[in-house]
Amino acid sequence: MSLFELFTSFPSNFKRSQDSTYQLPLTALFAAAFALSTTTLSGCVMSEEMKRIDAVKKLQQARDESGSTNLTGEQIFIRNCNTCHPGGRAGMGPSLENFGKDYPTDDKLKAFLRKGKGMMPSQERLSEQEMDNLLTYLHALTFEK
Ligand code: HEC
Repeated sequence: MSLFELFTSFPSNFKRSQDSTYQLPLTALFAAAFALSTTTLSGCVMSEEMKRIDAVKKLQQARDESGSTNLTGEQIFIRNCNTCHPGGRAGMGPSLENFGKDYPTDDKLKAFLRKGKGMMPSQERLSEQEMDNLLTYLHALTFEK
């Protein structure tokens, strides 16, 4: 490189190096600002989303609970039992006239109903309230000839 070339290229070289001294901090600044904005923004969006999901969950839960506890013993019996014990009488399952012999206490009866036995399906989805409603209905079944 001649002295002349060095001389004429000096200003542009200088300018370039001057620019790049600003470039690094500027890039860093933009990167920091971008990182900050995306994290805070997505943070907001995330928590909004979580709140929404939470609200929907609570609503569904309330609906499930109210829906299930509103079923009467008769409704549950017709829905879950009547096909095999029509009106409490023998069908695919035995008559329910004497279940007190095999299941003398409510606790034993509940445990049996929850678990099921052989052909008889388990009733694990019934709420405690529904189970009580069902037992009241079972105890009130009458078998006039
Ligand atoms: C798919 C048919 C079926 C359905 C549905 C069914 N059961 Fe049964 N149930 C049976 C059979 C079969 C037995 C006999 C089980 C055994 O002891 O092996 C039985 C036994 C019973 C007994 C015991 C009777 C006794 O004297 O020992 C009771 C009580 C009873 N079921 C109540 C119910 C109730 C309440 C429901 C509804 C929540 C129900 N069952 C739904 C088939 C069914």
